[in-house]
Amino acid sequence: MTSFAVLISGRGTNMAAIARAASQGKIEARLEFVASDNPKAAGLKIAGEMGYPTEILDYGKEGRSGAERQLAGLCSLKRVEWIVLAGFMRILSPEFVAAHRGRIVNIHPSLLPSFPGRDGIGDAWKYGVKITGVTVHLVDQGIDSGPILAQKAVPVRPSDTLESLEKRIHRAEHGLYWKTLAALFSGASVSERS
Ligand code: GAR
Repeated sequence: MTSFAVLISGRGTNMAAIARAASQGKIEARLEFVASDNPKAAGLKIAGEMGYPTEILDYGKEGRSGAERQLAGLCSLKRVEWIVLAGFMRILSPEFVAAHRGRIVNIHPSLLPSFPGRDGIGDAWKYGVKITGVTVHLVDQGIDSGPILAQKAVPVRPSDTLESLEKRIHRAEHGLYWKTLAALFSGASVSERS
């Protein structure tokens, strides 16, 4: 059985949906640990309450290279094969990405390649798109780029506010991410568009 780690920076609702699916046996892989660059991330508490080990990545002391050395060390110690980014708001270095090529997965709250960056939902909303959505992709050395594994469209309704749109996007993420990981980890070819 393969194994993975989840990296978060904040609320961790995607991590929680993935962890729940893993603990229910819907993902055939072991979640070895949940790590965050932010010691105050609410998701760390949730992961701990769910019984998963948590780690803080220390970007403060030695910067990105130190934190990535720490992360690489944890992954090799715990024999983690996949790194799952779930609202992890740091850019991984090209060297780290190259060393884990094809083994890092990310979710982004827009239909990439539209609206990459920190505020995919807000940027799509401000642009006035009528359809947005979520994307799960492999990480390459760009920002929110890399081969797309799955996408789900979320229509913007005339009655939407930014908040109501955000809610539907998060709901779409919580369904799409674990299903995509389940297929990826089982070696199936992944492609979902709806
Ligand atoms: C999610 O919407 C995720 O798609 C986004 O951060 C949020 C984290 O929420 N990621 C990005 O924007 C990456 N560029 P969560 O902590 O509740 O899972």
